[in-house]
Amino acid sequence: MKKGKKLYEGKAKIIYATNDKNIVIQYFKDDATAFNNQKKTTIEGKGVLNNRISEHILSNLAKIGIKNHLVKRLNMREQIVKFVEIIPIEFIIRNVATGSITKRLGIEDGTVLKEPLIEYCLKDDKLGDPLVSEQHILAFDWASKNEIDLVKKMILRINDFMIGMFMGVGIKLIDFKLEFGRIKIDGKNEVILADEISPDTCRLWDSITDKKLDKDRFRKDLGDLIPAYTEVAKRLGILHEQSNVSAVNVTQLSSVKRKNK
Ligand code: TMP
Repeated sequence: MKKGKKLYEGKAKIIYATNDKNIVIQYFKDDATAFNNQKKTTIEGKGVLNNRISEHILSNLAKIGIKNHLVKRLNMREQIVKFVEIIPIEFIIRNVATGSITKRLGIEDGTVLKEPLIEYCLKDDKLGDPLVSEQHILAFDWASKNEIDLVKKMILRINDFMIGMFMGVGIKLIDFKLEFGRIKIDGKNEVILADEISPDTCRLWDSITDKKLDKDRFRKDLGDLIPAYTEVAKRLGILHEQSNVSAVNVTQLSSVKRKNK
């Protein structure tokens, strides 16, 4: 398989064409942005960790029947993924209120929600990814009713699975963002999970101390982002206990064999 031209560059990833029109390469950058690009920096090693963590989560989701775009990890920074037409909605799932919802609605930070709350944001950087309702999605044909219903079912299963997975390693899944894409499989239109699931796109708090193990370390200037992401990877069993990911030794990650495969 040959890597072709750049098809799309987002804030944290690049998509490259390949000689197979159904397959693209997803490259994880070290760039970190927050608040719709108002704050940005480069954190060496972040892309490597997100590549591994996202591979781990998506391959486990596939095992419970959640169809997704991951074919396989190619190297430290790249994955082979199925080419999909991304639905232009960011699906936010909240188990505990924190972040934008606390400011928007005056909800106390850390409020445990009675049941998972799904919010929709239009994926448009120029507009700052505004919150929209299901009616907006239908009115402007961003997705069909059938697609939204399918996505909602998948979201609840993904949330249940991920809450359990993280709980088992002493982490609370506070909230996260998912993206889905359209694809034809055996001539049939389907909607599958796409993009990434990583500490960039989830809020993960240590179960006992509430220590933040996610991109809030950058958003809130808490520092030590790489040690936090490394902690997540280690607890998930992706990295050996002794691996210490720093800017200088991220190369080590490429040779670490996955324990769970
Ligand atoms: P929020 O509290 O800023 O709305 O974020 C909710 C969750 O969604 C949080 O886990 C971070 C994630 N998220 C993204 O992955 N990308 C985004 O562009 C935004 C706004 C949030």
